[in-house]
Parts: sequence; structure tokens; C-alpha cells
Amino acid sequence: MKLLLLSLFVCLAGYSSAEEEPPIYDEDKVPEFTLPDTLVFEDGTPVTNPADWEIRRAEILNLFAEHVYGHVPKGISNEIFPAVRKEIDFLEGKATLKEIRIHFAKPDGPFMDLLLIAPKGTERGSPTFLGYNFGGNHIIHPSTEISLPESWMRKSKVKGAVVDDKATEKGRGTSTRWPVEKFIDQGIALATIYYGDVDPDFDDGFENGVHALFGKPEVNEWGSIGTWAWALSRALDYLETDPLSDAGKVAVFGHSRLGKTSLWAGATDPRFAMVISNDSGCGGAALSRRRFGERVARINTSFPHWFNDKFPAYNENENALPVDQHQLMALIAPRALCVGSASEDQWADPKGEYLSAAGADPVYQLLGKQGLGKEIRYHLRAGKHDVTDFDWDQYINTFKTEVIGE
Ligand code: GCU
Repeated sequence: MKLLLLSLFVCLAGYSSAEEEPPIYDEDKVPEFTLPDTLVFEDGTPVTNPADWEIRRAEILNLFAEHVYGHVPKGISNEIFPAVRKEIDFLEGKATLKEIRIHFAKPDGPFMDLLLIAPKGTERGSPTFLGYNFGGNHIIHPSTEISLPESWMRKSKVKGAVVDDKATEKGRGTSTRWPVEKFIDQGIALATIYYGDVDPDFDDGFENGVHALFGKPEVNEWGSIGTWAWALSRALDYLETDPLSDAGKVAVFGHSRLGKTSLWAGATDPRFAMVISNDSGCGGAALSRRRFGERVARINTSFPHWFNDKFPAYNENENALPVDQHQLMALIAPRALCVGSASEDQWADPKGEYLSAAGADPVYQLLGKQGLGKEIRYHLRAGKHDVTDFDWDQYINTFKTEVIGE
């Protein structure tokens, strides 16, 4: 009887048992669900015009901050103190390589090192891809001109590339994910930062990176993804001051956890002209309610520091979420949005990523855009969880047609 009452109470309270279920990889096992309607206000009133949308947009943005990614703590400083550390010719004179150390909040505050590689010979700054790398700026190209990161470094698959949590020379040029010359030849600059400069990617109780300065977050305040996204906006603040970059034409890019980050950065900062999510999966482009591949309970257990402390309330309880990821995509409207998936990356739920991108279409339509197939681009590439030249070709093409205007 006691047990019965207890389970009745648990059901009424809306909690599911916290026990984690195995991942779904079979379309037939995807549960039925109803997505929250992006074009209806929380009070049930329909959103019928672009002015309404601005208000609804703020409502959705706030729900994502409150329940998923966390608010930026009130009162923290957005001020940056950049210092150029190097500026040289690069790629046989085709490009300029520049390294900028950007301190947060005060001249000796924590810092991130931005590497900017830009085509030469342009009068105005160049359209720019801005994105974090996983292993340090030096992994994107073999040049010994690129400084090694100084901050804590995650383990590397490359032997000897990380020793005692620090990057070594062995990591130079080991990433295949950054076709630098291709960007330069297309007239596009690359700005990249090692994400661990901003917040080292482990569950340390928020004591390092910028958290050393800004302190431990409240339950509804940012986790690591929120922090990484905020720092991308600080990088854009810097690019606005650098003549090598055309800051009105910056596409924010990210792969995997960094794709979750680029989406949140694009949602929170409308200055990003285009947003790219590559294989971002759960908590990124994939719909949470499909529960396919990785799901909310798993991500909050494996990576308790990524989201805010309210998100675990939706473990095995996705239908209770006040938002779903198609609404994150809608927050990018009317700007260009690219979502890329890979066929063997079922953990990230390619179909859920597609449905999410397509689910943003009504907002683009409301704003007088064509939406899916034009400003919203989706591609499914054959192969594994990775960033390939094929992926970049899609992003470059969209950048050119939708942002650069060629
Ligand atoms: C894990 C995690 C994913 C994440 C990925 C990555 O696989 O479960 O959510 O996208 O790591 O960032 O590499």
C-alpha cells in the first residue's frame, strides 16, 4: 500500500524513475511525442507577425537559458583586453597569421588565445569562420609559427601530443578538420581558439578558466557550453576591432560538443551572420523528445558540467521540457543556418537533427524568408562523426550565397 501511494505520488509529481534506459537505435522504438509549438506564446496566444516573433523569441531564449544552457551570471564583465602577440606573413605571402591574447574582464584576467589567419590584399576585412578547436591552435596547421596552448589539455589520440595535461610539439598539424588553404583561396579568414582556454572540459566544480574569475554558477546559470558560447561573443567583440576581419560576416562554427556551443552562441548573439552545427547531436541540433542515440539522462551523467543544474530534471523526462531543439534552430532565424550530420553517427541522431532544422522553417517563413533549402541547409554525409572537406564545401557554399553574396 505504502509503495502504491509512493508510486502514485511520483506519477502525480511528474517524475519518472531516474533509472536510465538503454539508447534507442531503432526508428520503431522512437516514442510518439508532440513538439512545443514555436509560433504560440506560452499563454496560448498565436504568433502571427514578425513583431510578435521578437517577443516570442525572447520567451524561448529565456526558457533555453533557464532550463538547459544556463543564464550568463548577472553583473559579470564583458570587457576584453586584447594584446596582439604576433603578426606575420603566412602561406607564402597569401595570408596573414596573427595571434591575439584576449584577457577577460581585466588586463591580467584569464585569457584565450585567438589565432587569426586571413587572406592578404583585401581592402576591407574578410568574411570569417570563427570556431573552437579541440586540441590547441597548433593542431590545425603544421607551421611552427603557431604558438602552443598554455592551458590544461585534454588527452589526445596522437602519441606524445599531450604530456602532463599540456600540449607538446607532437600535436602540430595533426588535425585534418581545418582546410586552412581552402578558406584562404576562397577569400575567407579563419579565427580559432582552443576551447579549454575558456573552460577546461572536465567536471572541476567550476574553479578554472573564466570561472576562476566569475565564481561558481547558481542552479540556473551557465555550464561549460554556456561559458564557451559567451566567450565566442567576446571573440566577435575582438573581431569587430580587427581590420583583417569583416565582423558583419562571421559564421560561427562548431563540431560535436562545440556544435552545441556554436548553436547556443548563434542563438544568444544575433551578430553572428551564420551558424554552423556539425554533428552536434543531443543538446545541439537533435530533438530531445526522440530519445534516439544519446539522450538527456546520458549526457547529464557523462558530462555534468556542460548544461545548467536544472537540465537533469528532464533525465528520462524529455516530454516535460518546455522547449525542444527545433526552437533553438528557430532562434537563428532569419540568418543562415547549416546543420550537417554523418550517416554512421547514430549517437547524434541524424534524423533528429534534420527534423530540428526543418522544424525551424515556419519561423523563417513568418519572417519572409524561404527557409529550408535556402537559409536553412541540412546535409547528411556518408561516414563517421568527424569534420571533412565535404562538410566544409557545404558550409563554404552556403556562406558564399547567403552571407558573402556571391
Ligand atoms: C560525446 C558526447 C556527445 C558529444 C561528443 C563530442 O560523444 O556524448 O554529446 O557531442 O562527445 O563532443 O565529441
